[in-house]
Amino acid sequence: LTDTFTLHNGNTIPKIGFGTWQIPDGAEAYDATAAALNAGYRHIDTARVYGNEPSVGRAVRDSGIARDELFITTKLPAEVKDYDGARASFDVTMAALDLDYVDLYLIHAPWPWSDMGSDHREGNKQAWRALEEIFGAGGSRAIGVSNFQVDDLQSLLTSATVTPHANQIRYFVGYTQNDVVEFCAEHNILVEGYSPLATGAILDNEDVTAIAAKYDRSVAQLCIRYVLQNGILPLPKTTNASRMTENADVDFEIADDDMATLDALTDTES
Ligand code: A2P
Repeated sequence: LTDTFTLHNGNTIPKIGFGTWQIPDGAEAYDATAAALNAGYRHIDTARVYGNEPSVGRAVRDSGIARDELFITTKLPAEVKDYDGARASFDVTMAALDLDYVDLYLIHAPWPWSDMGSDHREGNKQAWRALEEIFGAGGSRAIGVSNFQVDDLQSLLTSATVTPHANQIRYFVGYTQNDVVEFCAEHNILVEGYSPLATGAILDNEDVTAIAAKYDRSVAQLCIRYVLQNGILPLPKTTNASRMTENADVDFEIADDDMATLDALTDTES
């Protein structure tokens, strides 16, 4: 939990983040964030659309942990594809979190959720200009994108003055988006993986269970270790305190042949 990756601007980012997607605002998000901090997590990932920024921010403030020991990520709603809207949304986010700055601010998706697959490349360039200014002014210590495919990144890079520091994508055993990962590696963009447990669907997969047993580890631990061993930053989500500790206890090595077996798996969600 204290090991770090380094972003291309030199900032460090704790190697395992605590994901807060689908944790409702209020007591649940507050308690889960507080428990994660208590378990030693120093990297918390939220988003405007998760609706839980107020509780996440309050748990962070109440923790008493020095701000510079924490890494807080949040995201611009995917619907916002214009410069003014992005600037205004960041202000709303900062008021909700009630923090002085965030460590990473991401465009949540290349297309609005209501119109997935639509072409919003021009809008992303406008929103990115706002993020670059937020970064320049210190409102966020790093900026990036989420759910961007290779062509979305290529388009953004044609006008970007700051290369995204990170791209957060869906990533787990059997779903590895290798073309995106390769492109990001070529451009020094850190890849973060959300849903490293396929939102729980992978937990009873027989192939993965068999390999986990060889290492005397849980399926969750094997899956999180797999993500890390591919150089990707996992963001597991749980509201259960003992699972928070379990998910961070991944200091073991998966052998090359087992990595290859895991690489070859498909249909891990069914
Ligand atoms: P819960 O919050 O009840 O612990 P992902 O990180 O891929 O989004 O997966 C999250 C899902 O996996 C949640 O349903 C979460 O349930 C469950 N989960 C997280 N960690 C573990 C674990 N160590 N063992 C079993 N289930 C887990």
